[in-house]
Amino acid sequence: MGRIVIEDVCQAYCNRRRQNRLGEDPSVGYGDSIQVLDHVNLDFADGEMVCILGPSGCGKSTLLRIIAGFERATAGSVSIDGHRVKRPGSDHIFVFQHNGLLPWMTVWQNVGLGLRRMPDPEARAEKISEHIEMVELDGFEHHYPHQLSGGMQRRAELARALAVNPDILIMDEPFSGLDFLTHMKMREEVVNMHEFIGKTTIVVTHDIDDALIMGDRIVVMSERPARVKMNQALDFSRPRDFQKDPALNRLRSEIFLMLGVAYAV
Ligand SMILES: Nc1ncnc2c1ncn2[C@@H]1O[C@H](COP(=O)(O)OP(=O)(O)O)[C@@H](O)[C@H]1O
Ligand SMILES: [Mg+2]
Repeated sequence: MGRIVIEDVCQAYCNRRRQNRLGEDPSVGYGDSIQVLDHVNLDFADGEMVCILGPSGCGKSTLLRIIAGFERATAGSVSIDGHRVKRPGSDHIFVFQHNGLLPWMTVWQNVGLGLRRMPDPEARAEKISEHIEMVELDGFEHHYPHQLSGGMQRRAELARALAVNPDILIMDEPFSGLDFLTHMKMREEVVNMHEFIGKTTIVVTHDIDDALIMGDRIVVMSERPARVKMNQALDFSRPRDFQKDPALNRLRSEIFLMLGVAYAV
């Protein structure tokens, strides 16, 4: 199960920067409080694929950390299936991080990481190979991460996440740093994976098309302090095509505008 309710979440940090960077509010001095999340209210259904968009630095990763329980919000609450999140719960949530493979372990060992505590070695081995097959990395079990291409590394990361069988999968910019084609393939893979396992999945992305192609729901955050600017279910049929679906295309232009780009490219 994986229904997530985010109620009135606020987060503020203490500014530890003595020198403001370009574009930052000059009135915020050293030791001042920076408001990052501003009364965020969201409700994700069990099994939903939610894509979160927002300007860089607005607080998307912060929100993910609060949902995963790595960080406590200054105000408000997050609950999963009615239980308040207070600390990381490894059984329920898996945070997918790129470059998260351990370089000294093979694909097999990396995928098996979350299954260390399975008592029966045979069942464990079966589960590992099942997930390696699922992401089509069979034959590469004994390769180390540096021997794999970028796309293969992401697939190994995905296999590792899914092997744990979490209720909720959290992905923070999972496609960043991939070349165009690998990005497209990985996106397709994540959509297929979601269709197959049906777990609540939250994907933070800066790519509007990713969000519109993948999401059952799209959330657009404002500049910091981040508020929810748009929170909308996407009821478009799949596979989605901007050319063939004028309503989807209109929404795309609307979101581009919302994020400060006048002409959708
Ligand atoms: N632990 C922290 N201490 C102080 N400031 C932080 C901390 N974590 C994030 N921030 C600040 O909060 C803002 C939002 O960060 P983040 O959530 O990483 O943004 P995003 O993921 O949307 O790009 C940034 O301005 C960042 O500098
Ligand atoms: Mg981030």
